[in-house]
Amino acid sequence: MLKEIHEQPAIINTIPNNLSDKLIEEICEVIKKTQDIYFIGCGTAYHACLAGGYLFSKIAGRHVFTAPASEFNYLEDFLTKDSLIIPLSQSGETIDVIEPLNHAQKKGSKIITMTNAFASTIYRMGDHKLLLGAGPEKAVASTKAYIAKISVLTILAYALVNKLATGKKILRKAAKEIKRLLSKESINQIKNIASLLAKSDHIYIIGRGVSYATALEGALKIKEVSYIHTEGLSGGELKHGTIALISKGTPVIVIAPLDDTYDAIISNAIEIKSRGGLMIGISSENNPAFDIWIQVKETGSPLLTHIIPMQLLAYYLAVLKKLNPDTPRNLAKSVTVK
Ligand code: G6P
Repeated sequence: MLKEIHEQPAIINTIPNNLSDKLIEEICEVIKKTQDIYFIGCGTAYHACLAGGYLFSKIAGRHVFTAPASEFNYLEDFLTKDSLIIPLSQSGETIDVIEPLNHAQKKGSKIITMTNAFASTIYRMGDHKLLLGAGPEKAVASTKAYIAKISVLTILAYALVNKLATGKKILRKAAKEIKRLLSKESINQIKNIASLLAKSDHIYIIGRGVSYATALEGALKIKEVSYIHTEGLSGGELKHGTIALISKGTPVIVIAPLDDTYDAIISNAIEIKSRGGLMIGISSENNPAFDIWIQVKETGSPLLTHIIPMQLLAYYLAVLKKLNPDTPRNLAKSVTVK
């Protein structure tokens, strides 16, 4: 898992070279012609779908419906031959993704696959195929395939509005910042935070907008490998229930990039702090609401950068608890049977 986390900057930098401008153009033409678009995936791939929904809306002004693939069977009644399904899958073999794709094919809908594994079942189902190019991912908890999916989605969103060069530039900046986040100094800070949190029973993570997807993905990473109950939620949902669980010392991670979500998420952080929560802020700027500050610089892609401290935290929590992060209990790398 640690090796794959460290491969991420290099993967981001190679993605624009792997995807030819011609292929991106071809995919964009299909997307532009379609009104009815769906991103589906499971686990980490679903979080990438959710992130993609925000990216397409914000950057490209396009609405995309996103759903966990396992729920899509119950939501697909409206598919027609004019619908476009974009399944995201690292392995390309997840049964919960294959099933709804079979139904979509029967209805004549189009499919653009986004997989890491070449020639996998899902890859072969595509009318058009995008490869993630992250290289083989072995650790059960997905890290580099997530980053690759977000990179490809970012490229597509910018390409849709003829700003491919801007998309590529943002990727380069994000890769540089991730390299810094993987330096010895940054990792030492994460190790210290891991020792503070190792005995926690619960951790909460909040974010808004694109960082809502980051909150869900960060929580999944931590629970998968450290077995600490971790819940990701949107900052706005906090007071609709979960705030009842915050008491003195409850660790809460706040994802606060300097985008349109900043003021609202900081106001959530203040609400939690006033109830005694231990606030860990991931942001480019320190804030009085944070007890601990993890600095992540602005790059134009908080989706790519702000997840990194939580991937590392998950890994070091597992190591501190003497668990093997590469083979978490009860989990399979690829779920191929129902
Ligand atoms: C399993 C893995 C997860 C992964 C999910 C989807 O549950 O443990 O890490 O996110 O499957 O896998 P896929 O290969 O379709 O991306």
